[in-house]
Amino acid sequence: MPEADTRDDKSFHEDIPSPEQGFFLKGSGAYDWGMKNRLARIFRPDSGRTVMLAIDHGYFQGPTTGLERVDLNIVPIAPYADALMLTRGILRSTIPATFRGGVVMRASGGPSILKDLSNERIAVDIEDAARMNVHAVAVQVFVGGEYETQSIENLTRLVDAGFRYGIPVLGVTAVGKELTRDARYLGLATRICAELGAQVVKTYYVDEGFEKVTAGCPVPIVMAGGKKLPELEALDMAYRAVQEGAAGVDMGRNIFQSESPAAMVRAVAKVVHEGARPAEAHELYRELSVPAVHA
Ligand code: R5P
Repeated sequence: MPEADTRDDKSFHEDIPSPEQGFFLKGSGAYDWGMKNRLARIFRPDSGRTVMLAIDHGYFQGPTTGLERVDLNIVPIAPYADALMLTRGILRSTIPATFRGGVVMRASGGPSILKDLSNERIAVDIEDAARMNVHAVAVQVFVGGEYETQSIENLTRLVDAGFRYGIPVLGVTAVGKELTRDARYLGLATRICAELGAQVVKTYYVDEGFEKVTAGCPVPIVMAGGKKLPELEALDMAYRAVQEGAAGVDMGRNIFQSESPAAMVRAVAKVVHEGARPAEAHELYRELSVPAVHA
């Protein structure tokens, strides 16, 4: 047993006030330590932003182009992203447990691309998410969709479960054929997700009024990528989104369907974390470009 510490020359730096433990993310100051710590594994504290690589498409559309072999297509480029958004099946089967980045686990599902996608249920027990040490769970919300209430209940049940374990919830606003993709609709959908407890919201970029969508949402918004665009256009969209208030991006096809996914994820990071202009980031993309591994 160590002897009693009776020295009287201890240094308490009485003249230096202890720092306030604020938190760098919008609307996130009231969470418990574990939830903040998980959010800080997804968002970089130095920039307050994230480059999340979405590869969860298989949960409703099977082997998506560019994701035929996640071990070959994604594992080599994963370290360039701040976080991966993926299903638990791919996480367990294919992502090395040595992966050091953030993990956002898709936690809703049910219908395939052949059916009404809004008819989702919770697809992951929060205890399994905790067991896999994930940093957030993601749930699709279909505001205005056929199964709107059910999808919102999925969100609220996951938020309640997430608070028990300190696991944040990413609310993903769906757009569909019957849903208008404009700032009024996305402002409605994102605000509903935040009001009902989502700690982060994913939504699409719109040319008109995106800054109103981000301003009206009290928690961080990450920009969804959407269908594949030419690289410069995708970089331009990411640039405008972060300049207009997004706390980063959650892009899938615009990275993994690029001619050079490794170059593209690094170019996106230059825009998101360094505020590089699209032309400068595109120059980096061109310099780094090597062809994708095709399965
Ligand atoms: C969309 O709602 C899902 O979350 C996706 O499977 C995915 O995240 C979409 O990514 P992207 O549209 O950028 O390919």
